Amino acid sequence: ENIYVGVDLGGTAIKVGICNSEGHLLHTYEGPTGTEDGVDTVIDNIEKYVRQIVADSPFEWDQLAGVGAGVAGFTNIREGIIILAPNIGFRDVPIRAILENRLNKPVKIDNDANVAALGEAWSGAGRDVDNCVCYTLGTGVGGGIIINGKVYQGFSGLAGELGHICVVPDLEAIQCGCGKMGCLETVSSATGIIRMANDAVARGDRTTLASVEKIAAKEVFDAAKAGDEVALRIVNRAAFYLGKSMAAVAAVLNPEVFIIGGGVSKAGEILFEEIRRVYAQVTPEPLQKDVSIIPALLGNDAGIVGAAGLLLRS
Ligand code: BGC
Ligand code: NA
Ligand code: ZN
Repeated sequence: ENIYVGVDLGGTAIKVGICNSEGHLLHTYEGPTGTEDGVDTVIDNIEKYVRQIVADSPFEWDQLAGVGAGVAGFTNIREGIIILAPNIGFRDVPIRAILENRLNKPVKIDNDANVAALGEAWSGAGRDVDNCVCYTLGTGVGGGIIINGKVYQGFSGLAGELGHICVVPDLEAIQCGCGKMGCLETVSSATGIIRMANDAVARGDRTTLASVEKIAAKEVFDAAKAGDEVALRIVNRAAFYLGKSMAAVAAVLNPEVFIIGGGVSKAGEILFEEIRRVYAQVTPEPLQKDVSIIPALLGNDAGIVGAAGLLLRS
């Protein structure tokens, strides 16, 4: 039996998983990305985790038919190059060739959110629809567009970079990791939420939040649920710009379902209700009809499953 390893290369963690050819996830393993230690360490870590998960499984290395990787950044999938991944500190890294060399297995790469969208379309929240758009809310904000069951790549493979839609008005905009101002990612990622919380604390706003650096965005959501108005304002701001971006995406693509995954989506209804409210407020009625905004079904595993899936399609 052939197995496939999917790698989800994110700014904070590298997740790996073994899938069979039906896309069933059999084993998972997770370790730190090691971004602070530089490109070489991150690549060493990928190799280490891939070898580790196969060694810890009942499968033999020979059964491994290939490795797929979803990368948190702008990727050139034809050449297998990470063009720019600010949250991992990569620029122009020929990741596919490097990994094929080290592992001696076929390797395919794509953007992490494209891959998560593929996973959700394959066996998650998008499995019953042909057209969906997936957002991943984590260290960054990622996007993946599924049209007629396939990831839409665009002219140079960069379609679906939804985190870099400019939504924040100039006067409130701050600089994004991509170098530009006012991107969705600056307000709706975990990083953005934590930054807004820290700013509020530093300003002396009346809040139960202490300085939240190094603490997950979850603390902000928990405070908001417990009635902290400053925290609630931050959550609503993150949701507001997500809802607005979705309205723009709907006008361009008219997807049937918006799927939201990634760590921040675990905040649940407090986030989803506000996104839906804003979407309904700014989207023409016909573009709302029968369109839903729902959580990812595979949760944090979507990226791994979709990455393994890169080897099976095409
Ligand atoms: C990157 C995307 C990535 C997203 C989520 C963004 O900063 O530009 O390519 O999909 O973060 O990791
Ligand atoms: Na994408
Ligand atoms: Zn940006």
